[in-house]
Amino acid sequence: MMSIHNDQFSTNQDPQYKLWNSAYAGDEYYYGSEPGPLARRAVRYHHPNYPQGGTALDVGCGEGQDLAFLAECGYTATGIEFTAHGVIKTRRFLAERSLQAEVVTADIRTYSFNQQFDLVLVVNTIQFLGDAASACLDRVIHAVATGGVIGLSIFAREADQPSMQSSVFFMTLPELMERFPPDHWQMLEASQLWQWSPRTVHKTFGKPQAFVTLIAQRIA
Ligand SMILES: C[S@@+](CC[C@H](N)C(=O)[O-])C[C@H]1O[C@@H](n2cnc3c(N)ncnc32)[C@H](O)[C@@H]1O
Repeated sequence: MMSIHNDQFSTNQDPQYKLWNSAYAGDEYYYGSEPGPLARRAVRYHHPNYPQGGTALDVGCGEGQDLAFLAECGYTATGIEFTAHGVIKTRRFLAERSLQAEVVTADIRTYSFNQQFDLVLVVNTIQFLGDAASACLDRVIHAVATGGVIGLSIFAREADQPSMQSSVFFMTLPELMERFPPDHWQMLEASQLWQWSPRTVHKTFGKPQAFVTLIAQRIA
């Protein structure tokens, strides 16, 4: 496998860019090569109604394991990712599986979602957008077409914690659900999950990371 040289992409000084670009710099896939459970469940809710596929967007696609899954399921899939290493690894991941998807190098904070999609994934990404997170969340939600499904996860906020902690954005489940009014959205799943992973354990000194997770369908 071709290796990626770390010093090639070191000019962007944004802390989140540096963090994720360096996380993806190695040959291995940081989050593995299997699609995540949220992607699988969102497709399972959406796909039966769209046997011919449809369009799908993965916002903050990382190294592409969910994007490749969307392409494999027959969607005309687009991924957005701002790290150079993430974009390269995503394109490699797709090519290794002979899958086609558009991979857009862009910063979600300034990206214009000028199209709506039948399926939108935004997994473990919005919280890293800092001050822009709340407005970006609204723009991502707006990018779901009528009849379309969104699968979303974001760091969970405990009621007594501030929504912004060290430039990371947190939400409670009720705060997230307010963005999905019942006259426009059918809630399919909404939950708070505490996720353990070897990386999470390492980063948070043994504590699981709490996420609020939601899958919903736009009905109007
Ligand atoms: C925790 S990772 C999750 C990646 C992927 N969704 C997954 O589940 O494997 C967060 C992703 O968001 C990307 N990201 C963070 N801020 C971004 C921004 N402003 N524009 C584009 N991508 C961004 C990071 O580069 C990283 O790939």
